[in-house]
Amino acid sequence: MTFSDFEKIIDRQQYPTMKWNPHDLNRHFGSEDVLPFWIADMDFSAPPIVVEKLMTRVQQGIYGYEYRQDSYYESITNWYAQRHHWSIARPHIQPCPGVLSAIAILISQHSNEGDGIIVQPPVFFEFRLVIRKNGRKMVKNPLQLVDGRYQIDFDDLETKAANPRNKVLILCNPHNPVGRVWTQTELARVDEICRKHDVRVISDEIHGDIVYQPHRYNPFASLSETAAQNAFICLSPAKTFNLAGMIDGMVIIANDEYRQQYDYFADRYQINRTNVFTSVAIETAYREAGPWLDDLLAYLQQNITFMQHFLDRYIPQVKLVEPEGTYLVWLDFGGLGLDAQAQAQFLAQKARLALNSGFWFGREGAGFMRMNIASPRSVLEEAMIRLKLATEVIG
Ligand SMILES: Cc1ncc(COP(=O)(O)O)c(C=O)c1O
Repeated sequence: MTFSDFEKIIDRQQYPTMKWNPHDLNRHFGSEDVLPFWIADMDFSAPPIVVEKLMTRVQQGIYGYEYRQDSYYESITNWYAQRHHWSIARPHIQPCPGVLSAIAILISQHSNEGDGIIVQPPVFFEFRLVIRKNGRKMVKNPLQLVDGRYQIDFDDLETKAANPRNKVLILCNPHNPVGRVWTQTELARVDEICRKHDVRVISDEIHGDIVYQPHRYNPFASLSETAAQNAFICLSPAKTFNLAGMIDGMVIIANDEYRQQYDYFADRYQINRTNVFTSVAIETAYREAGPWLDDLLAYLQQNITFMQHFLDRYIPQVKLVEPEGTYLVWLDFGGLGLDAQAQAQFLAQKARLALNSGFWFGREGAGFMRMNIASPRSVLEEAMIRLKLATEVIG
């Protein structure tokens, strides 16, 4: 893979992809004539080695019931050991159809209807849906923006955790949408507070591989054995290798009792099977696509630098909150002086860009926009030009 592969424009409208679906664009942005930077998948092809191995598998023509081979599990444990210095015991890996389904199962197993589930807004909006659809109450421990960097409000977390009705914290590590990569010190505080008050931690680490130097992804369960015993770590190759349509994720459960509960549920609802293509894609990606990911990270980093310079120079009213991880950047549009609704309309109608409005992530996100920057540079340039022209009109 070279940088030129990331520059290639792929016409994603040819495929039934939600990000570019005219119907969805109309529904959310009032027009299909918008450039989409919303849903979190990338406009790049999956790693070529993954495509190649999938083609070979397709040509075999044997698509019977499959099991996950030892080599599949090894590809995962090696990846986390080598890249993130986290040793995962193979029996602790439990398959799940996706991270959100794992979160739904875990909150239903570790809380009762009406109980509180703590989240840290602004945060990935689907957490709210999963909490509500499972009859739980969303309890907010809002992040605080201090000198341009988001922080966890530990005093408030302690207050929320101390309420015996609040049973689970959903942590987003790294955090979508604000791009924080939580440090070991921060995670250790979270662990201490949650264990003290008997609150389980579900750590959604789907963005763990997309982290920029000098920051480092710290798997929550790698903090200590005691932290691991109180936590569920949700992982997936979907973001890392752009495989979101190859539904398969995993949850790492070190605690024997909790793992048995999860396993029982997976058997009960028969959700532990695999798909022949998914297994090939995942194993190949973890085993062979590390260099592709390194190139991707360098490309994304350059996209961020380009945006930062462009905004500083031409649209200083819009500020980028420096991302430590994820390919989702969090933009402060407060300088335009528009209320949240007017801001959303301005972006869709005047700039003709489909970005997620900050309020999707909770009212704490009002005034901000989330933009997915995993697109060829030329597309990002087009977006910046549209934004510049639109802001010039409002002055
Ligand atoms: C933080 C986070 N968790 C979960 C998901 C979705 O994961 P899955 O498709 O595996 O359910 C996303 C997708 O954007 C995400 O950003």
